Amino acid sequence: MTHANPPHDFKLELPCRPRRLRRSAALRRALEETVLTPAHLVAPLFVHDGPGGAEPVASMPGVERIPLSAVGETCRSLERLGLAGVALFPVLEARLKDAGGSAALDPDGLVLRAIREAKAAAPGFPVITDVALDPYTDHGHDGLLNESGTEVLNDATVAVLVKMAVLQAEAGADLVAPSDMMDGRVGAIRGALDAAGFTGAGILAYTAKFASAYYGPFREAVGSAAAAGTTLLDKRGYQLNPANRREALREAALDEAEAADLLMVKPAGPYLDIIRDLRERTDLPLAAYQVSGEYSQIHAAARLGWLDLERCRDESLLAIRRAGADLILTYFARAYAEARG
Ligand code: PBG
Repeated sequence: MTHANPPHDFKLELPCRPRRLRRSAALRRALEETVLTPAHLVAPLFVHDGPGGAEPVASMPGVERIPLSAVGETCRSLERLGLAGVALFPVLEARLKDAGGSAALDPDGLVLRAIREAKAAAPGFPVITDVALDPYTDHGHDGLLNESGTEVLNDATVAVLVKMAVLQAEAGADLVAPSDMMDGRVGAIRGALDAAGFTGAGILAYTAKFASAYYGPFREAVGSAAAAGTTLLDKRGYQLNPANRREALREAALDEAEAADLLMVKPAGPYLDIIRDLRERTDLPLAAYQVSGEYSQIHAAARLGWLDLERCRDESLLAIRRAGADLILTYFARAYAEARG
């Protein structure tokens, strides 16, 4: 075989050669600018209370809905792996859902029992809970609908979310995470937590949650799609327009003024510019949610033999850290931590 190499005596006059610093593994390691460890990752957990054990989520290889009885042991093992915490998502049976999402305020509801299990098994391991009505409503929306069912009501929804957050803090949640995108909910939740004496419970605000198609597999996992009859639930009346950057900054300013403890961007990978924008505008720590669709697309391509699963997993997470996220919620949390051994 002949190679069409340029002649070897060809020399550039080139004092600046960045490749000098890439020649050894040790120098590459020493000069790495972004650090990613399991301590930066939060594992979302889907919890069910039905008969039977763990149920696989078809569109999310490696992800299961675990039974309530497994929550304690799961938290212990995730804590041993050095992760930052868990984010709990309840999967309710359809018969418990209604238009008002009333199961969200059941004092013995699934997510409250899951928090207690987690805290009993691993008291020092942070538990984050979702504050939104979609796992509880029969229409799959994050709040209460108006009479014609055309709009999600803001203030009436906030009134429910506030109660939900207090119940979660009372059960032991370290951070409550409003993911509903109602206006004013962060301030209202802060006021209610403080009034109830839960001044130490923090708020992880889903500040810039975009109306994204990447949530599809999650909606299968928690059954909000089945309840609504579609994974393409239209939440554009409350979630952000994917076209908008300034609107995310405006939400960030409001959440910060309302005393959010951390701000979150979601999805993460397709919204790295927003993470960077917020990083430059706020001194609060930032979280990013690598959502179900981001996870599933890497798995799907790997199954087809088109991408390397582990390397794409690690690169996707590193990119989110590089953009400016302190914490990453990711379905890869356990696998990443296990791979780091
Ligand atoms: C809703 C909620 C969603 C996710 C977390 N909380 C989906 C939605 O807005 O329909 C999505 C997370 C994921 O896709 O992994 N409160």
